[in-house]
Amino acid sequence: MRSLVLLTSGGDSPGMNACIRAVTKVAAARGVRVVGALEGYEGLIDGHFRELTRLEGTRTVPDVEIDAISAWGGTVLGSARSARFREKEGRAAAARQMAAYDGLLVIGGNGSLTGAHVLAQEHGVRTVGIPASIDNDIGCTGTAIGVDTALNTIVEACDRISDTARAHRRAFIVEVMGRQCGYLAMASAVAAGADAVLFREQGASEAELVERVAQVIRTGFGARGKRRVLIIKAEGVEMPCTRMVRALEEKLLPNLPGVEIRGTVLGHLVRGGSPSYQDRAVAGRFGCAAVEGLLSGATDEMIAWQSPVPGGTKTADPSITRFPLETVLVQTEALINGTSPITQRRLQLLQAVEGVLPL
Ligand code: F6P
Repeated sequence: MRSLVLLTSGGDSPGMNACIRAVTKVAAARGVRVVGALEGYEGLIDGHFRELTRLEGTRTVPDVEIDAISAWGGTVLGSARSARFREKEGRAAAARQMAAYDGLLVIGGNGSLTGAHVLAQEHGVRTVGIPASIDNDIGCTGTAIGVDTALNTIVEACDRISDTARAHRRAFIVEVMGRQCGYLAMASAVAAGADAVLFREQGASEAELVERVAQVIRTGFGARGKRRVLIIKAEGVEMPCTRMVRALEEKLLPNLPGVEIRGTVLGHLVRGGSPSYQDRAVAGRFGCAAVEGLLSGATDEMIAWQSPVPGGTKTADPSITRFPLETVLVQTEALINGTSPITQRRLQLLQAVEGVLPL
C-alpha cells in the first residue's frame, strides 16, 4: 500500500484530531502517503484533498502542522453529513476519486460507517472504519472517540449547575445529547450525583416521567431536606425540557413553597473541548490499529475497543479487535432498539441504583 485517504464525517467528537495525528504518523513511519479529504465525504466526492505527509528525500514524514493537533477539539479536516453520499451518483464519484489511492480510513459514527460499508460493497474500495461519536451508540465497540470527554464535560456542567441550584433551592432538569441512545445520560448520572436519570430506552410515557420526577423532587426538598435536586434527561426523551419544567411547576410548586424548577439543555457544549487523556489514548491506538489493518489487507471492517461482542479479528493491540462493518451495523441496530444484551446490561445497571440516586 503506497497511499491512503483519511476523512472525518458526521458529528465531530473530541479526539478526532488525535486520531488524524496517529494515522498520519503511523502511516508515514510505514512509508505510506496520507491524504485528508476535506469536509468528510463531500471532499471525497469533489476531490478536495490536503496532503498530511510529504517526502523528505526518500523518507515519508508527517506534515509538521499536525504535530500540535491532538490537544484540539473538533477536526482539522472538517466534517459534514453528506446528503450526496447517500446517493449512488455521489458514491460513484467518490469511488472514481479513490481510484488514485489504495485505501480509505473513515473516522465517524453510524451514518459515516454505513457509508464506508456501502462504498466497499458497491465499488470494492478498501475501507476501514474508526468509531467516533459522543453518543456511544455504535455496535461492537465498548467506546468511541469523544465519549469520555463528553462525559467529563457533562459532569463538570452539572457541578456548576448544582452550585447555583443549591444557592437557590432549585431543581434542575439537565438535557444531554445522545440522539436515540441514552448512554451519555446513563453514564453521567452517578458521577454527576443526579437524583434521577431519564432516557428513551426506559420506554416511559410523558405522564409517567413527570410523575416519577415529581416524586423525586417532592422527596428531595421534603423528607430529605435537600437544597438541590438534579435530573439528567437524555435528548432521546422526546418531551422537551421546557415542557417538562412547566408540567412539574404546575404539579409541585403549590405545595413546595420556596422551591423553583429550571431546565438547561447542554446541547453542543458536550461536542467540543480539548479531548481527555482517555480519548487521546484510545484515538491514538485506534489510528495505529486502523493503519495496520489496512496494511494487512483488511477491508469493509471497523476497529473496536474492548468489544462486548464475542469474536472479531484480534490485532497487535490487546484492547482492539476488528469486526466486519456488516456485523457492526446489525449490532448498532440492536443497541439502539434496545434488544442488544449491551443495552439490557446498561438498563440493569441503572435499575440497580435507581432507588439509591434520590436518597
Ligand atoms: O451524533 C452526535 C450528535 O451530537 C447527537 O448527540 C446529536 O443529536 C446530533 O449529533 C446533533 O447534530 P447536529 O450537530 O447536526 O445538530
